[in-house]
Amino acid sequence: MDNSEKKKPTRNLALEFVRVTEAGAMAAGRYFGRGDKISADGAAVDAMRLLMNEIDMRGKVVIGEGEKDEAPMLFNGEAVGTGELPALDIAVDPVEGTDLVAKGMPNAIATMAAAPQGSMFDPGPMFYMSKLAVGPEAKDVIDINAPTEDNLVKIARAKGMDVADLTVVILDRPRHADLIQEVRSCGARIRLIPAGDVAGALMAAWPGTGIDVLMGIGGTPEAVIAACGLRAMRGGFQGKLWPRDQQDKTAGEKAGYDLQRILELDDLVASTDTFFVATGISDGPLLDGVSYSGGFVHTHSLVARGLTATVREITAHHHLDTLTALSPIAY
Ligand code: FBP
Repeated sequence: MDNSEKKKPTRNLALEFVRVTEAGAMAAGRYFGRGDKISADGAAVDAMRLLMNEIDMRGKVVIGEGEKDEAPMLFNGEAVGTGELPALDIAVDPVEGTDLVAKGMPNAIATMAAAPQGSMFDPGPMFYMSKLAVGPEAKDVIDINAPTEDNLVKIARAKGMDVADLTVVILDRPRHADLIQEVRSCGARIRLIPAGDVAGALMAAWPGTGIDVLMGIGGTPEAVIAACGLRAMRGGFQGKLWPRDQQDKTAGEKAGYDLQRILELDDLVASTDTFFVATGISDGPLLDGVSYSGGFVHTHSLVARGLTATVREITAHHHLDTLTALSPIAY
C-alpha cells in the first residue's frame, strides 16, 4: 500500500465505550459479595444504558440481556446511542459472572463490543458453544475437532513451551470432566474458573495473564463478545455449537444452524472493524477489579480496536464526590 492509499486515522469508538463499562463496573462494584446478583446486574445495566445512549451511533443491541419481556433494558433489538451514524451491532454483558460478583469472587467484568451492523453472529436458540481460544502465536495450529492432546502439543510448540508449562483455563462444570481428565493426562496445568469465559478467552490471548488456552463449553453470546476482543488481539478461536440435549439439537437444526460447522472469528463477527471493552469488577488475571481509596473509585479496563489491533489498558481514578454530584448513577 502506498501512502496515498492509506487512510487518515478514524474515530476509535472503543475509547468512548470504555466510559460505559467503567460505569457498569463501578455500579456493580457496590454489590460485590453482597449475595444479590439481580441487583448487581440491574445496577450495571442502568449505568451502561445511560452512558451508551450519549454516544453518537445508531446502535442495535443484538446480544443483550434477553428478549424484551424478560429484560427491561438492553434487551435484544433495543436501539442505543443518539441515532447518528455509524450503524452498529452492539453486544453487551453488563456483569459477566453475576455469581462471581454476588459471592465476592475473582474475574467478574463489565463488557461490551460493537461491530458494523449485520456483522455479528446470531446465536438463535443455541445457548452453548464448545470453544478453543488462543493467542496470536498459536492461532494457526488449533483444530477443535482434533484430540485435546494434539492441540496442546501444537500450542506448546507454537509458543516455544513444553506442554507441562501450559495453563489451560476451563469453566468448572461437570460437563468438562472428560476434558479435565484429558488435559491432566497430558501433564498441562489447569485453572478452573467458576464462571466468566469471556475473560477466560481474552486471558488466553493477552500477555501476562499466565493463561495459554481456553477450552470447553460456555455461552454462545459470550463467544461473540470474546471474538470482538480476540480479533483486536489477533488471537485465534474455533467454536462449535453445542446442544445440551435432543431438544436443543432439534431447535438448532430447525433454525438452520449447522451443528458440525467450525465457527472461526470471522463467522462470529464478520468484520475486522470491531470494538471491545471490558472493565474489571473483581480482580483476576486479566483485569484488576473496582477498588476504593481516598475518595476515589479506581477502575482498570481493556480497550481494543480490531481495525488497528491497538489494545489499550486504561486505569482511571474517579472522584466520588464529584461523580455523585453530577450523575444520577449510584457509584
Ligand atoms: P452470567 O454472567 O450470566 O452469570 O454467566 C457467566 C458464564 O459463566 C459465562 O461466562 C459462560 O459463558 C456461561 O456463564 C456458562 O454457562 P453455565 O453457567 O450455564 O455453564
